[in-house]
Formats: sequence, structure tokens, C-alpha cells
Amino acid sequence: MYRTHTCGELTTSEKGQKVTLSGWVNRRRDHGGLIFIDLRDRYGLTQVVFDPSSNKDAHIEAEAIRPEFVLRIEGIVRLRPKGGENTNMKTGEIEVLGDKVEIISRAKTPPFEIDQEKEVSEEIRLKYRYLDLRKERMQRNIITRHKIIKKIRDLMDAEGFLEIETPILMKGTPEGSREYVVPSRIYPGSFFVLPQSPQQLKQLLMVAGMDRYFQIARCFRDEDLRGDRQPEFTQLDVEMSFVEENDVMAINEKVMIELLKEVAPKKEIMFKPFKKLTWHEAMGVYGSDKPDLRFELPISDVSDLVSGCGFRVFADTVKKGGVVKGFRVLGGAEMPRSEIDSYEEFVKIYGAKGLGYLSWKGAEVKGAIAKFFSPELLGKMKERCAVEDGDLVFFVADQFEVACNALGGIRLKIADKMELRDPNKLALAWIVDFPLFEFSKEENKLVSAHHPFTCPKDEDVELLDSEPAKVRAKAYDLAMNGSEIAGGSIRIHKPELQSKIFDSLGISKEDAQIRFGHLLEAFSYGAPPHGGIAWGLDRFVMLLLNEPNIREVIAFPKDQKAKDLMTGAPTPLPENQIGEMHIKVSLPKE
Ligand code: AMO
Ligand code: AMP
Repeated sequence: MYRTHTCGELTTSEKGQKVTLSGWVNRRRDHGGLIFIDLRDRYGLTQVVFDPSSNKDAHIEAEAIRPEFVLRIEGIVRLRPKGGENTNMKTGEIEVLGDKVEIISRAKTPPFEIDQEKEVSEEIRLKYRYLDLRKERMQRNIITRHKIIKKIRDLMDAEGFLEIETPILMKGTPEGSREYVVPSRIYPGSFFVLPQSPQQLKQLLMVAGMDRYFQIARCFRDEDLRGDRQPEFTQLDVEMSFVEENDVMAINEKVMIELLKEVAPKKEIMFKPFKKLTWHEAMGVYGSDKPDLRFELPISDVSDLVSGCGFRVFADTVKKGGVVKGFRVLGGAEMPRSEIDSYEEFVKIYGAKGLGYLSWKGAEVKGAIAKFFSPELLGKMKERCAVEDGDLVFFVADQFEVACNALGGIRLKIADKMELRDPNKLALAWIVDFPLFEFSKEENKLVSAHHPFTCPKDEDVELLDSEPAKVRAKAYDLAMNGSEIAGGSIRIHKPELQSKIFDSLGISKEDAQIRFGHLLEAFSYGAPPHGGIAWGLDRFVMLLLNEPNIREVIAFPKDQKAKDLMTGAPTPLPENQIGEMHIKVSLPKE
């Protein structure tokens, strides 16, 4: 027998018992004759002592032991000597007096220490992920992830949702990213596409009468990676029949609150019910479509005030349909010039062309642009931006989204500086009424903001021909602490409306038939009104655990360049295997 107990189990109630434990050597200490070993497994640590005066042979064996060896130990549970207890551990009041030790498996010196949280390069951690995962923090993350997913399954089941698996070898579903493709051996020149999400399949499940579907679904997107993105990631994917926007949001809110109560009981849920903002409000006031609402720091709009002012940049922007937005920095009048310059540099990543500022100190208004405004106008701007003496206001004049995003970026930086992003709080908000389309600069045309199956608002359908950019969607996102953790929509279930949307997107009838013919065909056999949502589970778990990126909550993630550093994938294939696939490799010139 390898073990009578785990390493996280023994307490004073087992005092005097003969036990067998197996596990890894977390640490070994030699204390003038006595050898202490902390034996580790997933469940915890147990201190084992080898005392030459009690068993000489076992003590000699223990001398050869090194960290990360796998051992099987027999011994007697006894109380630790007075003063030697460790109240932070479940097993902290006892130790096992070792009577027999068997080395099951030896270990090379690991490339980093497992028993301590020290800075280790991520490259090394990912290469030796199986060692990295032995660490307490990673074990906690993986265990928490399991608990969250288990609880989600229970909650969804209780609400009548069926968990249904959908294929990975698929035809593409457009979620806006580049796709991973798999060549077919049997059908030369044809390819499977790995799904960016089970979007079309879950809609087909509604046509199939499944009514309420969910899946813990793997999604694949060949997109630029960031801290909160992976090329393969996991969604809680949901679809429901005979629902409107509020039905989908209500059930997800209910599940989310019950889930958080169980898996994050110490965190304060700030808004119950969750806040609800239109996309326009979220962007306009908080400068983001996924605003962090743990704090206020609103953005103001001064477009109407400056429309006829002497500063051409502002006046012309408003004339051309843009906006001028201001963000007040509390006490910012003292901000050093170098810091102001760094913000001006920072907003360029959002495409802003400049960053003006005004600061108020006593009777004086400072800033390079102050000279363009009359004292009366300065007074109005001060009032609009709720300025108090000693504050500074940053201004961006640009198209609505550029101006909002730029100041939203500053808003987060300032909040970080003021330490307003409290990790113990959860601010959840529904963002609704997204635009149906967005303009793609690369393609120079309108593309779906969400995906082409998203239903426009009834009252906006008539704008599809005249002002498509103004059409709002029956779409909703759930933002938590400044991250988009879920997104979904009500779908189009009428073939005529779907065709109209394809028209607006410039997708021809033939193209629509080739790409989505199966879906359009399905809708001609009686489709229920339906809608759904998908949660980004990795992101959600990351936020609950206060981890800085989603790789920390995924057992075997890809690195920042979409590579698996442990196995080296992707790797070249042997010639014959490539031949079998009927494909040729043509490498780019260096
Ligand atoms: P969407 O594309 O908004 O919607 O994705 C839903 C949620 O998935 C998460 N997410 C990601 N997480 C990690 N890495 C990525 N690369 C990544 N991309 C997205 C986000 C996001 O909110 N089929 C639709 C859902 C629907 O309409 O029902 C969809 O996939 O948290
Ligand atoms: P300039 O006259 O171009 O030197 O600009 C004067 C000030 O206005 C500088 O602080 C610029 O950063 C700022 N500025 C220029 N363009 C914009 C803009 N689009 N929005 C806000 N401020 C701007």
C-alpha cells in the first residue's frame, strides 16, 4: 500500500497511529542529527522526522534524500514539541516519526525551486510546466478552476440546460479572428476549420428543439495575443430558445451571483442587480465598452461648449461630427510636465492626435490651449468637468470612439495610481445596445461588431439601408472590473432579415450560401427565436484569483507567441505526412 493518508490530512486525532504516506520531498533540513522532511502532495504537507536514536537505518536512508524525490514513508504520528507547532497548516500540530523510508523515484535538481515563490522566467516555467504546476499557487489555481467549472455545471443543470458537445473539426464560424485550419487527408485540397466558438452549432441546436444548451467549450482563434487572450481558450457557451435580451441577461446574472457566492465568498459584489449601461454611456462616461466601475472618475463632454471656440482643433472636430471630451484629474494641477507629456505619448496608441490640458489653481488657468478660450468659456468648462481648485483636465478632440478610448485609458492609469482598483471588489455591469456594425479600416467596409447572426434592434431595422452605422444590436456584454468576461446577443431567426444583413456586410448571396448555407437552410424548417451568450472562463477565473494573465489559470497554455514551449509545438511534419495531406509547404523568405 502506498498510503493510508494524504499529506494534508493528519491532525492530533491520529496521534499514536502507524501511518504510511507517499509524496514529493518539498524540503529537507538537517538539524544536528535529526533530519526533517516536508512531504508534499496535492492535499498539503506533512513533516516527517528521522531520529537516529529511534531508528538508525531509516535515518541513514533519509540522508540520501533530495528535494522532489518521491518517497513512501512509514511512521508514527506524534505531537510536535511545544513551540514547534505551525498554526498555518492543517497538519501543523503533528509530525510523523519516520520508521521506514523507500525512495520510489529520484529527481534531478529542478530548474527552479518548487517550495518557494521566487521570480522565474515564464519561458522556463512553461518549458517545465509539469514542475511549475507542482507549486502551491498553481495547484490552487487549477483546483479553483475545477471548482468553478463544477459549480457552473451544477447551476446550469439546475436551470434546465443540457450540456451538449459540438465538434472541433468544423467549418469556420465567423467571430472576427483568423482561423486555425486542418488539412483533410481523405478530401485532398479541403480543410476543416477549428471553431472560433460553437456559434452556428448552438443555433442549430435551437432549431433542433433543445431549448436550453450549454457547453464548457474550447474555442480556437489565431489572433494577436495579449495577457487576457490565448489561441485556444474555454467558454461557458450558452444558447436559449424563445428569449429576449433581458431573459438571457437575467439567467446569467442569477447563475453568476450564485456562483460568486460559492467560489468567491470574500469578494464584495458591488452592484446587485448588476449595473446596466448602454454602449454609448459606457464609452462616453467611462471611456470603455468594458468599463471598470469599482470607481467613478467620469469623463465629461464639452463638445457643445467648444463648438464655436477659438481653438481650431476643437471647433473643427465638432464641426466634422467628432467630439471633445475632458477627463478631470483630482489634484492634477501639481502634475509635473514630464508626466503630462507621458500621457500625451500614451494616448497615441488609441489613435489620438493630441492631448490638451487645462489646470486650475487659484484664479489662474494654465495650459498651452488656455489662451484660446474666453474666461466665460473657461468657467463653463470648469463647471461641466466638475473641476475644483487644484484639478487638471485632459482633453481629446477626435471621433467619438477615439476620444473616449484615449481618455478611458488615462482614467485607468489614474485609478491605478490612486489605488482605486480594489481586488476585493467585483463590479459587474451589462453593456447593452452595441452598434451592429463597425468600420474596418483594413477591409475599408462595415463588418459585424459581434457576428453576422446578431439581430438588430427592431426600431433600428429601418436604418439598415440609410444609416447602417447607426443601427444598434440586440447584443450585450458583461464587464467585470474592466474586463469583458462575457458577450452574446439575440440572433436573427428569419431568413429574410439574415439576407438583408449579409447585404449590408457586402456578403454576396453565393458567398453566404457557401459559408452559411446549412444555417440558412435550417432556418427554413421552423426556427424558434433564440439568443445566447458566452463567458470567457479563463478570463473570469484569472480575475477571481487576481492573476495578472490567463496563462496562470490554464494548465498547459501557449506562450505569448502562440507556441507550446513544453512540447515545442507547432513543429514541422515529416515529408511523408505532409504528402499524405496533399499539401505543399512554401516557407517565407527570411
Ligand atoms: P465573443 O467572441 O465575445 O463571443 O467571446 C466570448 C468571450 O470569450 C472570451 N474570449 C477570450 N478569452 C481568451 N482568449 C481569447 N482569445 C478570447 N476571445 C474571447 C471573452 C469574451 O467575452 N459566439 C459568441 C458568443 C455568443 O454570441 O453567444 C462569442 O464567441 O471573455
Ligand atoms: P498644437 O497647436 O498642435 O501645438 O497643439 C496645442 C495643444 O493642443 C497640445 O497640447 C496638443 O497636444 C493639443 N492637441 C492637439 N490636437 C489635439 C486633439 N485632437 N485633441 C486634444 N488636444 C489636442
